[in-house]
Formats: sequence, structure tokens, C-alpha cells
Amino acid sequence: MTLGRDAVKRCRIWLTTVALAIAGCGGPFPQSTLQPRSDFGHAIDHLFTDIFWWAVFVFVVVETLLLVALVRFRHREGRPAPKAAHGHTALEIGWTLAPAVILVLVAVPTMRTILATAGDAPPDALKVDVIGHQWWWEYKYPNLGIVTANEMHVPVGKRVQVSITSADVIHSFWVPALAGKRDATPGHTTRIAFRADSVGEYSGQCAEFCGASHANMGLRVLVDSDSAFETWMKTEQRGPATPTPASPAEGGKAVYSRSACLACHTIQGISPGVLGPNLTHFGSNTTLAAGMFPNDSAHLARWIADAPALKPGSLMPRMQPPLSDAEIAALVAYLKSLK
Ligand code: CUA
Repeated sequence: MTLGRDAVKRCRIWLTTVALAIAGCGGPFPQSTLQPRSDFGHAIDHLFTDIFWWAVFVFVVVETLLLVALVRFRHREGRPAPKAAHGHTALEIGWTLAPAVILVLVAVPTMRTILATAGDAPPDALKVDVIGHQWWWEYKYPNLGIVTANEMHVPVGKRVQVSITSADVIHSFWVPALAGKRDATPGHTTRIAFRADSVGEYSGQCAEFCGASHANMGLRVLVDSDSAFETWMKTEQRGPATPTPASPAEGGKAVYSRSACLACHTIQGISPGVLGPNLTHFGSNTTLAAGMFPNDSAHLARWIADAPALKPGSLMPRMQPPLSDAEIAALVAYLKSLK
């Protein structure tokens, strides 16, 4: 009776473990290459599927031979020890050639995909220069006169050519559903082209270890409908919003204009710094600190007061001398107003 209860208990533990393990596969997976949303993504997905089936084929062949050997040649009472075999030319040529052929069948489509996605885009492609920084992404649209950070907007269905480089160490640009990975290397430019097929927000991640906050170097690509992209583009091309007279945002602009922020950040017509992200339209970003936090007042206030406490190694230093709570609140109001 006790044994029966134990068995039921053990069974329940096993079932719970299995259920939890399966639940872990349930998603959502915002950074999965298995749900491609661009021609580039589909090309990678096809490659993955092909190589997966080659791997399955190799696995089945090897495991079958192993099982046959285990069963057929296992030790039996009274049977003499097997004779060691040396040199079988046909077999040796066979097991050298077979993997070589399989590797060629994997390598050719892989190289073809790399070349197809790294080539020149047509002249009408939207060009975006991507620059990796510790630990954020800068985007420049050379033909549109737009500079922004961390959130890239592209129109759906249009070819986009991304030129990737770095301002400091090696990073890697990767938006699993859309494009990448491609290294961002200082002094060198790599190019990829893609055409997004669905409107939506896609998250990505720096995929090359680049220092203390490598894991905090996220990015977002917002694929807009044509009209939404047009609206975004026109907004970005305008200067920064002017705060309403006597509003908290106007007080914040005054705080900004006498702060150390000026040295590192650009707000068009207000400050020329280029070390940190361009803040001209910062208020329209959905996230803060390269995708770490939602761009809300609470996080922004903590970020301004002490960025390294939120993002280890952040090059944006702790404010010295510290700003008062009122000054930080005013700065938050100003930055949020920059839409
Ligand atoms: Cu940048 Cu890892």
C-alpha cells in the first residue's frame, strides 16, 4: 500500500517535471530565427532547415551502424574474441568521401546565401548606416538626413541596405527575424540587405561579446507601413519640439542647457555632442538605454541620476555634482517632450 502511494507520488513528480519542461518551449520568443519576417530571414531559415535534415541523416546512419554493431557483435558465452581488422581501402575511402560530399552540400548553399545577402542593394534601397557603440546603436540615414539611436524604422516591403561598422570594439548586429548576424568592426564596413515582409516591432541584440554591458546592448527595428514610415521620417527631419512656455519641459530645457549632458548628446540646434545617442526626438522612443527599460518617467529619472547603476560600465557617468530631484524631474519632462 505504502509502495503504491510512493509510486503515485514519484509518477506525479515526473509528470510535473515533464509538464514544466514542455511549458518552457511555449514562448513567446521575440528573438527567434525560426519565425522569419524578411527575405533575409527566410534565406537563413531555409539554410537552417536543410542543414538540420543533413544532421538528422548523419545521426540516423551513425546510430544505426552503432546499434547493429552493438547487437551483432556483442559478447556471447563461448564465442572466441573477435579478430582485429586493419586496413580496408574501400571503407576508408567511403567514410572520407561521404562527409566531404555532405560538407560540400552544406557549404555551397551557405556561401550562396552569404553572398546573396551581402551584395549591393538596388539604387532605390533605403540606406542605413549602423554604428555599434559601447553599449548602444547609432543609425544614420544618409539620404534622409536622419540620425537616431537604438530604434531603427524601416518601411515594409522595401529593400533596406544596412552598412555596419563600430566606433570602438567589435559588436555584431543581429535582428533574428529580419537580418544578421554581421560583425560591426572598427575601421571596416560590412553590408547586408533585407526586405521586411510584415509590419511590426522586432527586437535584436548585439551578438559579439563587447564588454561589461554586452548583454544590455539590445536594439529594435520597427517595420512601418508606408504612411507610418513617411510620418516618422517627416517628424525626424524636423528640429526638436519646442517646450510650451512656462511648462515643466521649458524648465527642463534650461537645466539641460547648463548641464554636462551637452558635451555628449546632440539635440539639434541646442547641443552638438556626438559621444552619446542623438536625443533630438528622444521622446518618441519606446525604450531606454538600448532596449533595457520602457521609456517612462520613472526609469528615465533613475537613468539620468545614475546610469552606471542601471547599466554596468555605462560610459554615461553618474551626475557630478548630483542634480536635485526637481532638476531631474524637469529634465525628464523636457526629454519626454522631444517628440
Ligand atoms: Cu556590443 Cu556585444
